[in-house]
Amino acid sequence: MEKGSQSLKSLKFYIHTFGCQMNENDSERLSGILQAEGAQTSDSLDESDLVIINTCAVREKSEEKFFSYLGRLDSLKKRKNITIGAVGCVAQLYQSQLLEKKPIIDFVLGPDNYHLIPEIIQCHHGDKFISTKWNQKWHEIPQNLTYRENRISAYVTIMEGCNNFCSYCVVPYTRGREKCRPKQNIIQEVKDLAKKGYKEIQLLGQNVNSYKDPETGKEFPSLLKEVNRIEGIEWIRFISSHPKNFTQNIAIAMKEAEKACHQLHLPIQSGSSSVLKRMNRGYTKEEYLEKIVFIRKLMPDMCLSTDIIVGFPGETEGEFQETLSVLKDVGYANIFSFRYSPRSHTKASREKNAIPFKEKRRRLIELQAFQRNIQLDHNRSLINSVIKVLCLGKSKKDSLIYAGRNEGNQVINFKSKKDVIGQFVDIRITSCGPYSLIGEIAP
Ligand code: SAH
Ligand code: SF4
Ligand code: F3S
Repeated sequence: MEKGSQSLKSLKFYIHTFGCQMNENDSERLSGILQAEGAQTSDSLDESDLVIINTCAVREKSEEKFFSYLGRLDSLKKRKNITIGAVGCVAQLYQSQLLEKKPIIDFVLGPDNYHLIPEIIQCHHGDKFISTKWNQKWHEIPQNLTYRENRISAYVTIMEGCNNFCSYCVVPYTRGREKCRPKQNIIQEVKDLAKKGYKEIQLLGQNVNSYKDPETGKEFPSLLKEVNRIEGIEWIRFISSHPKNFTQNIAIAMKEAEKACHQLHLPIQSGSSSVLKRMNRGYTKEEYLEKIVFIRKLMPDMCLSTDIIVGFPGETEGEFQETLSVLKDVGYANIFSFRYSPRSHTKASREKNAIPFKEKRRRLIELQAFQRNIQLDHNRSLINSVIKVLCLGKSKKDSLIYAGRNEGNQVINFKSKKDVIGQFVDIRITSCGPYSLIGEIAP
């Protein structure tokens, strides 16, 4: 960091975000904190004085993306006096090693330390800085210090951290133990967003269904009920749900809250109870499927999505086939699928019976091709129906093409002569692919 670069007033900054929605929301907070001190966002790396990289460690590939991005900053740093900060999950995981191994980095901040950013820029002239402490309790960053570019749909973090220690997952080591945000702060933030005209709220946490208000002990259904009462907000979503914590009461609360979208991301990870046990997931395939039956009985139009890991250590061909059969039985509208990737600190990374890379790749390709057909069938069944869509943006290539999402969180591209960004519109579905729907404004 250059000596004397302490003022934030004329500082231009650029944030590059990897990873999940929570990282995106964290970047919105970092941006808001810096702007409140007079700094300005910049779209151009070349014009920036400060570059913050918000990192993700969930898979090897996520980490590699960060290191290759860092490599690209080398030439910029040689040309210009810029400050480079690594924040987020990789920062938390490797801490001081990052500063030692990557001299290009000036500071390292873990996810619980973002409030320190103005102080670092103002006070640590030229010194390297690191803070990766975890707070025991929720640390509230005033909500007016979140800068959102999206004016229609807003992320609202309700809890952070994870106590589940799935045997493959690094997140408990990057985000620490579960901490819940006081309900009144969440409600205040959502009310404020409603006043600003936001239509959709996405409640975020690593394990949202284990939410418990630290002040009253009230659980997720009560939070959902209160958010549902806030005027102006029309759609509520939440992510991620853990099947172990997704109770019948939560399904009932979803049905009763008319603004809760009939959409649920419920990561199963594997369709084999034996693999699930080795993953330390805390449910069997049968228990998971029973939950799906209960949910669908209550809300037959529920649109489901999931996460799958293929090639977990010791996964047999038969166990893999069981996963395919669950995909068929449930009929997910969308899945996120990954090759198992060994992560530091985790129990699974110490297992000896690794599946060879080629085999993991073959399973992933087979699974994705299998799911592609399920999605095509599902999407084809929607052709000619009229669907309510929240328009979220416009195509960059064709000014008549708009993009939005339906209640099921599926992407819909449609033609419109009028600008309908931010509005709910009725769209007649005319064609589809496996990953999106195409339509036109219904007369
Ligand atoms: N808290 C959320 C999300 C966790 S990370 C949840 O529990 O659902 C998102 C997804 O990444 C996980 O659901 C899992 O499918 C995948 N994932 C996590 N660790 C992984 C690993 N080591 N290898 C491959 N995929 C992994
Ligand atoms: Fe990781 Fe499991 Fe926690 Fe999700 S529930 S963040 S997969 S440890
Ligand atoms: Fe990645 Fe951290 Fe999110 S590891 S998935 S950015 S919680």
